[in-house]
Amino acid sequence: MQIDVFTLFPEWFDWFRAQRHVANALAAGSTLDCLSYRDQTPLTGGQVDDTPFGGGAGMVLRVDVVDAALAARYGADPAARRAERRIVALTPGGRLLDEALVSELAAEPALTLLCGRYEGFDERIVEHLATDAVSIGRYVLAGGELAAMVVCDAVLRKLPGALGHADSAIEESFSEALGGAPEYPHYTRPASYRGWDVPEILLSGHHERIREWRRERSEERGRPGSGG
Ligand code: 6GU
Repeated sequence: MQIDVFTLFPEWFDWFRAQRHVANALAAGSTLDCLSYRDQTPLTGGQVDDTPFGGGAGMVLRVDVVDAALAARYGADPAARRAERRIVALTPGGRLLDEALVSELAAEPALTLLCGRYEGFDERIVEHLATDAVSIGRYVLAGGELAAMVVCDAVLRKLPGALGHADSAIEESFSEALGGAPEYPHYTRPASYRGWDVPEILLSGHHERIREWRRERSEERGRPGSGG
């Protein structure tokens, strides 16, 4: 998977890139390139944003700036770029990221993530330059960078070789193997601590009954109002 992130703060991703599962994915052939809007801005003085038409607080990322950044990387025709790869604008009002969307994105050979800043994007970026608008939750972050890292984290750990254990990503929370339900609870040693005991069934060695118990706990957690 080839991921390009467009941002005003490419250096933020240096830390992210160094994390074990990300480093593993990159070592296995995936790429994570961070590009600064400022490097290609057609405006003077490195300007990338502007005040909103109609008034109001804050600054808005300009459509010509994002178009120039994408053109420098992929060519000048926005329609051709959109046909070639998913271009995801990270914005609080976008489609909510869930396991289904993560799987969808993880199946792509290439992905572009656009981070907005300040008050966000000129809407024409979302409408004409991006293929998708994605949000990581119904709250507002100062910018799309952390959201982009969340998307990259969730996507990269789905790729072969990113996790230490090949099965870890198959039977986990919200996966198809669990019927889309959250994962069952895990326990490890000590079996008893401060009088808090591990469920006996897990120590029993009855693999069939353990599987059954785990399926039940997972279903229980998946019911509405269970609090996850
Ligand atoms: Cl994708 N961006 C920003 N700025 N805030 C968010 C978000 C994205 N998702 C949730 N809050």
